[in-house]
Amino acid sequence: MGIAGSVWVSGRAEIVNDVHSDSRFVNGTVGISSLMCAPLKAKDTVVGVIKLGNDLPVMYTAEDLKLFTTLASLAAVAIENASLYEQLQETFYTTVYTLAETIEKRDTYTGNHTKRVMEYSLAIGKTLELPEKDMARLQLGAVLHDIGKIGVRDSVLLKESSLTDEEFEQIKNHPLYGEEIIRGISQLKSAIPGVKHHHEKFSGRGYPDGLKGEEIDITARIISVADSFDAMTTNRPYRKGLSLDEAFEELRKYSGSQFDPEIVDAFFASDVMEAFFSANSRQKILL
Ligand SMILES: [Fe+2]
Repeated sequence: MGIAGSVWVSGRAEIVNDVHSDSRFVNGTVGISSLMCAPLKAKDTVVGVIKLGNDLPVMYTAEDLKLFTTLASLAAVAIENASLYEQLQETFYTTVYTLAETIEKRDTYTGNHTKRVMEYSLAIGKTLELPEKDMARLQLGAVLHDIGKIGVRDSVLLKESSLTDEEFEQIKNHPLYGEEIIRGISQLKSAIPGVKHHHEKFSGRGYPDGLKGEEIDITARIISVADSFDAMTTNRPYRKGLSLDEAFEELRKYSGSQFDPEIVDAFFASDVMEAFFSANSRQKILL
């Protein structure tokens, strides 16, 4: 519409020193006497129009327009770059989620486990007020925590009866397989501690490295609580999941031995709890 609209269509910058006598004048320009208008061109496409107006009658010159057009092209390049960056980020996250889904497709009983572990983890991270950088790697680590299960044979991964010691040893390799899978992707490097150490225990009796206390990366300590809680409350073909209260009790019981007590406290103080206790909303969380 109006002068800006016609600059969008023509793709040419313009000076209009007497706006009110211009035939394209529309009411939206009320209060403006003079203006310069330039298209924001990214490559050959107009992505917007920038308008500079003055409510006093001034005479913009060709020199002003030249400067204004230069600023407009810088702005257009910045807008284009931001949009490309956004698209790249979106492709990256979609690829990561798809990668994580490949494991859920094999072990369908866990239905949406990855998504819930991510939501619980982020809720804990938010309560702990983790910096943005840690929240980003927490999210990636939570999504990819079990990606290494892709390297565990079906006969072991999907076994419905209890595992032999040898089979359990095979399962215990999945954090290491996970690390191997993602370490070649530079944008995923920050997620490695979460993936590799989500089965470490605060007491030092976990695997694969037997790390203890704060030797275990914060993202791994968080994912451990989120993952265990979800595993406890999910039905499996061979056993029924615990009730919420029973699972809360387990978290309290193992706080300080299996789990970092600060993380357990943060879980209980997080938004997730509010959602659990707001009338029957567990379905919403479990999706
Ligand atoms: Fe795991």
